[in-house]
Amino acid sequence: MDNNVVGLLKGVELFSELNEEQLAMLANLVVVQNFNRDETVVLEGDSSMQALYLIASGSVQVYMTGVDGRETILSFLERGDFFGEMSLIDGEPRSASVRTVTDAQMLIIHRESFIQLLRQTPEISMALLSEISKRLRKANKQIGSLSTMSVSGRVAGTLLNLMEERGVRIHTDNGTMVTVIHNRPTQQQLADMSGTTRETVSRICSMLVKAGAIAMTGKDIVIFDENALQEKAAKG
Ligand code: CMP
Repeated sequence: MDNNVVGLLKGVELFSELNEEQLAMLANLVVVQNFNRDETVVLEGDSSMQALYLIASGSVQVYMTGVDGRETILSFLERGDFFGEMSLIDGEPRSASVRTVTDAQMLIIHRESFIQLLRQTPEISMALLSEISKRLRKANKQIGSLSTMSVSGRVAGTLLNLMEERGVRIHTDNGTMVTVIHNRPTQQQLADMSGTTRETVSRICSMLVKAGAIAMTGKDIVIFDENALQEKAAKG
């Protein structure tokens, strides 16, 4: 069992600097838990369960719910990522909710163990700060685009972000390069990432498809013309 957990811990970026002995020690502090798709793992405002979650398999979405019930997606996290560190560090209630997008397996570390680990292992503290800085940069970008961009600019920006984060470059048969975003978000998720409605995303995506900038299949988004998206995002 522990060997299995060590194997899972090796897939977590946060622990990439740890040696075998440190990983083995950490494995003793970790509880493995399976979640079904669409299960809430962390609830915004909750202060009861103080633990850090490491994603061993599957993916989750981090989101906030507005007073009108509308969700804003802050991020998608996948295998190797972590969440739940903020409440552990500042002792405040959960800052956002986290829900599984697929079936998922998590490694859970309780607060005391994690804080002790941070004290003993500066490499982990540095890796954690680096990831939190990355997330803050992304959040700043999102705030900037929400307050200054038009809705079509924001949707184009969301597609460009997805492309940057998880796009795969592919040669087509006619020799051109395209970028494919596999397992694409639904139109509702794209809307929740862009601060708009599903209907508006549907309309803007249809326009982009007609203009030949993108194609959408059931599972993927294919980006043919990155420049067209960049122009839209730059126009604001
Ligand atoms: P915590 O506040 O404990 O619980 C919710 C978690 O969502 C939070 O810790 C972070 O791990 C994660 N989270 C909150 N905001 C963001 C964001 N903007 N990007 C990525 N993850 C986030």
